[in-house]
Amino acid sequence: MANSRAALGCINFLSHGTLEARDLDRTREFYENCLGLEVVRTSPRSLMIRLGGNNTIAVVQNPKKPAMPLLNHNGLDVATREDVERCHKELDANKEKWGIQKITKPADQHGTYSFYFSDLDENWWEILTNPPGGYAWMFSQGGDLERWGAGESDKVNPNQYKPREGTRR
Ligand SMILES: [Fe+2]
Repeated sequence: MANSRAALGCINFLSHGTLEARDLDRTREFYENCLGLEVVRTSPRSLMIRLGGNNTIAVVQNPKKPAMPLLNHNGLDVATREDVERCHKELDANKEKWGIQKITKPADQHGTYSFYFSDLDENWWEILTNPPGGYAWMFSQGGDLERWGAGESDKVNPNQYKPREGTRR
């Protein structure tokens, strides 16, 4: 819903971000056959990807794209710590097959259990445990969280996330 108090006042959906890829055919193969994302070819130079919702990422071909910094990563949610371990094992054991450039070890961080990897395009991803709806729970209070982040001791740690009374998942 558009926020009428904002200066622009008519923006109603954060629809997409963008990623660059060096070779769209190889990238598509990785997204579909390894990550299991939904992929649509939108032009000779672009793909659109999504999974689990309607926020999308447009993937644009740039053979000379530079490596992405880790902080710019995108998140891929799984339900359990075991899922994180399983994904890590698959990627770590098949780095060459999938073109994995770098991979970190799974760790508890910012309230989730996760690891990061840099893919065939040197784009960083994080595979993390999250409740259904990802970080949507952070907006369920209708305001800022009590403190920044979501540490292990937070009442709203997503690893043990339970909807508060009166809130919906
Ligand atoms: Fe993250």
